[in-house]
Amino acid sequence: MNRPSTRLVLAVSLDGRLAPPQGGPAQIGGPADRLVLEEALAWSDAALLGAATLRCHGSTCLLRQPQLLADRQAGARPPQPVAIVASRSGLFADGLPFFKQPVRRWLLAPEPVAAAAQGRGFERGVPMVGWPASLAALADLGIARLVVLGGAEIAGELLAAGLLDELQLTISPQLLGGPHSWLPAGLAVPEGRWRLLERRLLDDGDLLLRYGCPAAGAG
Ligand SMILES: NC(=O)c1ccc[n+]([C@@H]2O[C@H](COP(=O)([O-])OP(=O)(O)OC[C@H]3O[C@@H](n4cnc5c(N)ncnc54)[C@H](OP(=O)(O)O)[C@@H]3O)[C@@H](O)[C@H]2O)c1
Repeated sequence: MNRPSTRLVLAVSLDGRLAPPQGGPAQIGGPADRLVLEEALAWSDAALLGAATLRCHGSTCLLRQPQLLADRQAGARPPQPVAIVASRSGLFADGLPFFKQPVRRWLLAPEPVAAAAQGRGFERGVPMVGWPASLAALADLGIARLVVLGGAEIAGELLAAGLLDELQLTISPQLLGGPHSWLPAGLAVPEGRWRLLERRLLDDGDLLLRYGCPAAGAG
């Protein structure tokens, strides 16, 4: 089945946590991590985020780097990737800043929630009919490269389904403890060693590691 190339992009602590013990918004990476996040956004046609992540942060990350924006313009690409929110309920607080951001918003949700997307502040609803078929539908809508911004539930579902081609982790030199690992506990994941595609020392000891899935042949 045709589908977009996928890259999961997360900032995690040395003990593999993506949020503080109490949960809620996470600011784990430093300023240089923000730049590599923008590089991934610049690579992508769309950015997928889970509804819980959107509720925590209130907004999605936007491309701001002038050079990255200029490169996209030179390639006749829209300034920002489409923001695709995965939600079963489609329920978001009134006045969430996300709905005022200068970005195209799609809602990936089961019917009938997807059908009501436009009434909820989204440009388009895409039916969630299982990840393989829904990713194929995104490919049919012109999404060739999908950056996955988390959180753990979305990352886990895609990883368990064998639908992540690359993992881009910024390892931040801190220990957070608590329950919020970047993959849900007990998840059955495909076996195999991932291939190192890139390593970069960022500022403040942050380390970017990008791996390709052995089965997907990404690189
Ligand atoms: N460090 C980082 O880089 C990073 C990045 C992202 C997030 N985070 C952190 O991660 C935490 C949130 O992660 P999370 O694991 O709790 O949640 P999440 O993955 O962001 O979102 C979970 C939600 O996604 C929707 N969903 C899940 N599976 C779906 C499916 N198959 N079809 C349609 N919708 C589906 C559901 O939304 P509904 O409830 O609407 O049904 C579900 O409640 C926050 O603390 C956030 O700060 C950290």
